[in-house]
Amino acid sequence: MAHMLTIFKAATPEALNEIAEEMKVRQTKHFILLFSMGSQFDHLIVQQLGKLGVFAVVADPASVTANDVKKAAPAGIILSGGPASVFNEPPPFDDATFDLGIPTLGVCLGFQMWAKHVGAKVTPQAKREFGVHTFRVKGDSPLFDGVTKETQVLESHGDAITDAPFEVLGTTDNAEVAAGHSGHLWGVQFHPEVTDTVEGAKIYENFIKICGITDRFPAHNVAQAKIDGLKKIVDGKKVLIALSGGSDSSVVAYLLKETGAKLMGVYIRGIDRPDDEAYVQKYFGSPPAGGWIDIKIADATKEFLKALKGKTTMREKRLAMRGVYKEVLEEEMKDFGADFVAQGTLYTDVRESGHGHATGARVAEIKVHHNVKLGFSVPEIAPLETEVKDSARQIGRDIGVPEDLLVRHPFPGPGLVVRIEGEVTAESLHVARAVDGIYIEELRAADLYKTVWQAGATLTASHHTESKGDGAGLGRVVALWAVWSVNGFTARFAQLPYDFLEKVSRRITNEVKEVGAVVYRISDKPPATIEWG
Ligand code: XMP
Repeated sequence: MAHMLTIFKAATPEALNEIAEEMKVRQTKHFILLFSMGSQFDHLIVQQLGKLGVFAVVADPASVTANDVKKAAPAGIILSGGPASVFNEPPPFDDATFDLGIPTLGVCLGFQMWAKHVGAKVTPQAKREFGVHTFRVKGDSPLFDGVTKETQVLESHGDAITDAPFEVLGTTDNAEVAAGHSGHLWGVQFHPEVTDTVEGAKIYENFIKICGITDRFPAHNVAQAKIDGLKKIVDGKKVLIALSGGSDSSVVAYLLKETGAKLMGVYIRGIDRPDDEAYVQKYFGSPPAGGWIDIKIADATKEFLKALKGKTTMREKRLAMRGVYKEVLEEEMKDFGADFVAQGTLYTDVRESGHGHATGARVAEIKVHHNVKLGFSVPEIAPLETEVKDSARQIGRDIGVPEDLLVRHPFPGPGLVVRIEGEVTAESLHVARAVDGIYIEELRAADLYKTVWQAGATLTASHHTESKGDGAGLGRVVALWAVWSVNGFTARFAQLPYDFLEKVSRRITNEVKEVGAVVYRISDKPPATIEWG
């Protein structure tokens, strides 16, 4: 199977041979070396280059030296962004790489690194820039060839470049140097790899031209490559799949269906939404859609409530949920005699849990996902670990996963636990479930469900004075939210119509007696995340 991602740790002869092999598979003479500085968006750069037919190798900045780069001879270099800064715990990186004369694009932190190297000032910025901003292109340059003079870009940084001894290629309201150029070095303060940067693909295309990359490899069939790879591992073996009724675990089950493995799907009940179990039953439990996989419903309500008792911070609750999730799966694996356990873990989950591919640069832990690094007693299979939501859906489409399953909104594995502030009890679960049911039902009724990427309701810890009927009292505050996104790495709050929100609010306060008021969240990601916790 062709590798999805080649990781280059140090230029040993083996590492160089691996790259040469991969270039043969992809029928290309050129590749780009991506130094991963720990940004959540690194993988999107690889994907973006892949879409443009360019092979990218991810390099570990801590072990790959300028000399190694010279030997590997990439056509271009990209330095990604990251949570560190150039003056506080800078990522390990051999600065001599900047002097090799190889076309280099620095993104965010990557740009700040070469800017400092050539003598610019990099300082913490008074006004930090998070979210979508207007970028104004200055003059003509090959990097912005064909890009509109005023264009929307996504920024996520707190440091500014000033006193630039190089050509400034563009500005934003808060950054006098939002893009720059010095000889073979090119840089942008924003993230061209995310969809919110409207003309980002064009900027990468321009950089590819600057690198002189002429041949592009044909897109290969990712789904078939994954099935072929899995077959070699699981043919004739017993695989237990954690099924949630959502699209990712469903895609994994359909991939495994083609491998000759003996399958058992386990659905864990307890912290789930009102309709998840029904989806599993409909599409896996019985014909016509299901019947090709054995399904077991494991009711872990009591175990979840016990583990969550007295826990109030989201991190504590996430960890408690993980513990039960692992225990239940371990028990089912034992009963089934599983050789492998399979999960629908996405790259997003791995990355946000702080386990990136790069070892050298610091990768921030944003949140501990339920399904990452659980240390099961049998080997784990996570064929979507290199994918994000949109590419996982595409794989699903290629292998005939029912569209109704694929277009379901993403939902976090820790379920309603991350949508309840404070202690999770039978009562708070009941309220969160009731509220979610009403919200999603109304989104579907108003034909808005498919227009948003994800929507949810959070039972906050705030209380609101009520004036329901004759009595006055306090009711919980529910925060509704909905986002537009492509892959969950970034998101913008969805501008839902007021009359729709009003209807949902009325229904919730009328039908769920514990709720005193409803609010709507209007933050983007970044700076917020999509889930409340
Ligand atoms: P955030 O909240 O981090 O979410 O912006 C990005 C996407 O990931 C989902 N999410 C999770 N998915 N296990 C999962 O499988 C988790 O622990 C988890 N936490 C968040 C979230 O719903 C959103 O779609």
